[in-house]
Amino acid sequence: MIVLGIETSCDETGVALYDTSPWENGRPASAGVLGQALHSQIAMHRDYGGVVPELASRDHIRRVLPLLDEALHEAQLKLKDIQAIAFTQGPGLAGALLVGSAFAKALAQGLNLPSIGVHHLEGHLLSALLGPSAPQFPFIALLVSGGHTQLMLVSGIGQYQLLGETLDDAAGEAFDKTAKLLGLDYPGGAALSKLAEKGQAGRFELPKPMMHSGDLDFSFSGLKTAVLNQVKKFEALGTAEENVTAQFHADLARAFVEALVAVLVSKSQKAIKQTGCKHLVLAGGVGANAQLRSALTLSAQQNHFAVHYPPLELCTDNGVMIAFAGALRLLSARNGSTHSGAFDIKPR
Ligand code: KG4
Ligand code: ZN
Repeated sequence: MIVLGIETSCDETGVALYDTSPWENGRPASAGVLGQALHSQIAMHRDYGGVVPELASRDHIRRVLPLLDEALHEAQLKLKDIQAIAFTQGPGLAGALLVGSAFAKALAQGLNLPSIGVHHLEGHLLSALLGPSAPQFPFIALLVSGGHTQLMLVSGIGQYQLLGETLDDAAGEAFDKTAKLLGLDYPGGAALSKLAEKGQAGRFELPKPMMHSGDLDFSFSGLKTAVLNQVKKFEALGTAEENVTAQFHADLARAFVEALVAVLVSKSQKAIKQTGCKHLVLAGGVGANAQLRSALTLSAQQNHFAVHYPPLELCTDNGVMIAFAGALRLLSARNGSTHSGAFDIKPR
């Protein structure tokens, strides 16, 4: 079965074509990716310091059809080769979701195909199966994106148990807000991580919120406020030379990344211990973070569990994960027809 996947939940338009036959024949899931195309709106939103929902919706409308052509071209397929259509149903921006949903449903109706709405986070959760070292079920997933931070026990397709989540900011949100405080452009996660590499350890002692709370929940807004307090203190000293300010920013970035990574790693270890699971998957945009990846790899070695990473390009939003999650859902349902005329998006 060849499944078309459409992702439009936020500021990336993603389109992909996924063939389920390698998966069904026990071959690596990644062999099923036939074609994909992606457009990021980041440059468009940058001037506003964040995603502007109306601009996002309009850009999805402009991009989705050319991206479908591009993905079909890469896969050397025609519309008639598609057998089902998966789209991101939520969570996300309502207008942006509507574009993907309307497009997918109209196309499905025109081609007389089944369509299926996919939970965006399920796409992220399952994306590690597309990596070079795909985990077996059950596994623990640490899902860290711009909108969510969750620890999940994944026992099979559609079998997800929430173990803990953030009580306020998501990890990606904390990265982006902190990056802004340090003068970096939106979304600053990756840039903050790079800046932290230039920083020296030990200059700032930032809080590691809820590190020892005994549960698997998170809280990051206090960490961001601690950074803000340091910035205010520094600014109160008066204008500093450029290189002094740059070093201050880098050192503070390093302290922030270290504190956040320490909490994520500690809670992941705890989830592994609590459940007896021996496999951890890292997913979501912050899963691209180099410091987090190396700290988790080290923890896995020391604590005798395996850690699995999705391919770097599948950590942030993309169409492949939606095509793949939709395909697995359709395979497990086996009848596949979830088609309805309604635009049943679920922004929250
Ligand atoms: O999963 P994603 O693409 O979108 C959501 O579903 O939210 O995640 C985007 C988030 C942003 O907050 C971005 O700053 C963060 O992931 N991010 C990173 C890195 N790359 C992306 N954060 C830290 N380090 C990175 N290398
Ligand atoms: Zn996402």
